[in-house]
Amino acid sequence: MIQIRQALIEDFTGIQNCNLHNLPENYQLKYYLYHALTWPQLSFVAIDSSSKRIVGYVLAKIDEDSEKPNTPISGHITSISVMRSYRKLGLAKKLMKLSQYNMKAIYNAAFVSLHVRVGNQAAIALYQKSLSFSVDHVEKKYYADGEDAYSMKLIL
Ligand SMILES: CC(C)(COP(=O)(O)OP(=O)(O)OC[C@H]1O[C@@H](n2cnc3c(N)ncnc32)[C@H](O)[C@@H]1OP(=O)(O)O)[C@@H](O)C(=O)NCCC(=O)NCCS
Repeated sequence: MIQIRQALIEDFTGIQNCNLHNLPENYQLKYYLYHALTWPQLSFVAIDSSSKRIVGYVLAKIDEDSEKPNTPISGHITSISVMRSYRKLGLAKKLMKLSQYNMKAIYNAAFVSLHVRVGNQAAIALYQKSLSFSVDHVEKKYYADGEDAYSMKLIL
């Protein structure tokens, strides 16, 4: 059975491990902890109940630009991934929905944004087909290896 719940401080090494397995964009542990301490209600984990391993996560925040005057509050998905053998079970969609719900309910965020590699077909389908995000603009050479990103947005 897979349990999905809000991420706790002690989950963040497991989240970092999952991230290292699944994505080339990695972060120092302190960046995960910054999310956990600043916006504790926005990051979620999927845990395999038998192994107690974290098999998926969404790491999210409120965009720091939201603190500027006359700027709408918005959420941002920093990172999401699901371990290979747990994919296509609906975990990413559930993790995203929970984070989006709290962005609106707790922070009154007007929209949520994210970046995705233009070649990442699975993630693009998740965001566009399953969650109704749309492409706001393209950010040229956004990633360290030179790949472009779609900057996507969903009104909450
Ligand atoms: C992208 C990713 C998070 C999806 O996780 P997942 O748990 O398998 O996704 P879900 O099962 O919730 O899928 C929801 C929808 O996403 C789309 N989708 C997911 N995987 C897909 C694939 N391999 N090909 C096409 N569409 C896919 C489908 O529309 C799916 O809906 P459906 O099952 O009704 O067809 C996962 O593939 C992953 O971890 N990839 C590596 C890390 C990554 O790319 N993260 C995103 C960075 S922006």
